[in-house]
Amino acid sequence: YNYNISRSRKAILEFLFTGLRRLEYRGYDSAGISIDSDTPLASQPASNGVSHHTTASGHSEACVGVGDAAIVVQDGCAEATCTPLVIKSAGKVDVLADLAYSELNNEAVDLERVLTSHAGIAHTRWATHGTPSARNSHPQVSDPNHEFVVVHNGIITNYKALKDFLVKQGETFESETDTEVIPKLCRYVYNNLTEPIHFSELVMEVMKHLEGTYGLLIKSVHYGGELVACKRGSPLILGIKETPSRKGARLSNVQDIHKSPSGEALECFLASDASAVVEHTKKVVVLEDNDVVHLCKGAYGIFNAKMTDRHMAVPRVLETLEMEVNHIMKGGYDHFMQKEIHEQPESLLQTMRGRVKFDRSPAKLGVDPYQERRVTLGGLTEHVSTIRFGRRIMLVACGTSYYACLACRQTIEELTDLPVTLELASDLMDRRCPIFRDDMCVFVSQSGETADTIQALEYAKERGALCIGITNTVGSAIARSTHCGVHINAGCEIGVASTKAYTSQMVTLTMVALALSEDSIAKRARRDEIIDSLGQLPEKVREVLLLDTEMRSLAQQLMKEESLLVFGRGYNFATALEAALKVKEVALMHSEGILAGEMKHGPLALVDENMPILVIATQDRMHAKMLSVVSQLRARNARLIIVCNKGDTGIADLVSERCRLIEVPQVVDCLQPVVNIVPLQLLSYHLTVLRGMNVDQPRNLAKSVTVT
Ligand code: G6P
Repeated sequence: YNYNISRSRKAILEFLFTGLRRLEYRGYDSAGISIDSDTPLASQPASNGVSHHTTASGHSEACVGVGDAAIVVQDGCAEATCTPLVIKSAGKVDVLADLAYSELNNEAVDLERVLTSHAGIAHTRWATHGTPSARNSHPQVSDPNHEFVVVHNGIITNYKALKDFLVKQGETFESETDTEVIPKLCRYVYNNLTEPIHFSELVMEVMKHLEGTYGLLIKSVHYGGELVACKRGSPLILGIKETPSRKGARLSNVQDIHKSPSGEALECFLASDASAVVEHTKKVVVLEDNDVVHLCKGAYGIFNAKMTDRHMAVPRVLETLEMEVNHIMKGGYDHFMQKEIHEQPESLLQTMRGRVKFDRSPAKLGVDPYQERRVTLGGLTEHVSTIRFGRRIMLVACGTSYYACLACRQTIEELTDLPVTLELASDLMDRRCPIFRDDMCVFVSQSGETADTIQALEYAKERGALCIGITNTVGSAIARSTHCGVHINAGCEIGVASTKAYTSQMVTLTMVALALSEDSIAKRARRDEIIDSLGQLPEKVREVLLLDTEMRSLAQQLMKEESLLVFGRGYNFATALEAALKVKEVALMHSEGILAGEMKHGPLALVDENMPILVIATQDRMHAKMLSVVSQLRARNARLIIVCNKGDTGIADLVSERCRLIEVPQVVDCLQPVVNIVPLQLLSYHLTVLRGMNVDQPRNLAKSVTVT
């Protein structure tokens, strides 16, 4: 194909590693790649991590952390027919890259000689079945000759039954993963074929037996230089780099897959996340469930396992991504979390842009001012009256998104006069909570891919409820499968701990409450008050970000502590829980958010002169009660840090030299949690840095939890 082979193969390794690095933000514990080799297995190096099923010695296996993610790169295939080389290691992508380059460049193996292929697959794994180790990381293989090599994002729920069956057929399993059944099943199906079939058809046969969710990339010695990907339930996109001089073929029939394309080869990228693809191409196909992509000879075909004619390609739209590479870079900041905290004035503005009309312009005197100030949410307009006449509103989410729901519950209740219930998605499913046709279920998720929330959504849909999605990710599973919804528009969030998405979720939920109450004259004054405050919010957040240095000094004071208690109530109970979650998840310091109203029912026993206690006591209806909480804590000589409004004399009168104040600007009561959380995000950020922990990928955590 008139292509510079050595440039191409090196480029593929780089594509794979940069692709994996782009996915690092999701968190992971191990990584692996597979590329074709023209060297027979026996002459492949037998060193650690390379070849098959070896453990990478000298690499940290203690590092746990990600949402599984996979990427493949192809740019026109050479006819590679030998065993695919598999390189894996526990730990970070850099460890894997060092291992790969050092092994492939050593005397035994000449990089130019070994890598003749133009296709490769790579994966970062977050352990679900089995410990994080090279052995359990992907690619998983069918046998020592790597007849089938697979990377997988998702979970195979019937893997035990498949494993039992395959063991009866004489297979032995090397890993503790659910994924290993897939390459072994491919080999079983292949060995039992009565006549040759195309690679994609073979994969469709395998899919018939798989239950659960998956995005799969599969290579095989039997289909040299080819690659097949398929998906069900897990996200997978196909990126296509096409230039006028490099027009490749999109096939209409699988029979044509082996014909040489008329133009030059295409560069194709498959990944579970657009961020791995966006720097190479913005042209992508968002694959649908049961889609099977077949790559061969610089051409591609998209088929679907559920179509009657499985040979015919299915029509899929080539979309243009709007994501920019520098959106996912750190800018001038040291960490993504820091950047995302400081971005909040802009992200909040972005969330409200085009939706909230603040204007009560005197130039339009004579016009009913209330007509000028309103919230319009395009994705909900058609459904507003259905929601208004519903039985109840149920907010469903996980983690930080759940706390955003908790913070806004009261506002939605107040403005809609509807009962609002809150559900943690996993608990809703555990209880199989009753849901009815006239329920309005709101699913809130930054990623739009959280498996528990998706399951709860499917459950609610089956019961006929109206399902509303509030996500930050256009085209995500939740955005696609809800009946209607609102995008948070906070921009790409990379730090595993959610910050800007949290504040934008609170603003979005407040906008939803405002939009739902628009026809209520009785609520006009309150709506106006909230809309005015929304208008000031970005500036107030900018102001509170100036507390950065102060929060760093507070973090220095607290960095050696073992525990931090956070008290809040009313709108700010959520702030207490979210602040404690941040301290816990990134700074790895024990912290507990406590409803101040429950203080006397247990938590007070923990209070002494050593335990640091953070109290959120900004001025709202709960203020008098919070002053009383502060007095009671002072009476026990507690070490207090108080978040209060600037100029709050009530608090000022109470403080002693043992008490530290964090003074924040005042906004309307229901939006005060948006302002209050910001210094506490800064505090957890600085605590993390000072304690030497990983800010953007906290131990054991994933950005996008795509397994239940
Ligand atoms: C993970 C993340 C959290 C996030 C939660 C829910 O635990 O680490 O930051 O709040 O998932 O995610 P979602 O994408 O549904 O908001």
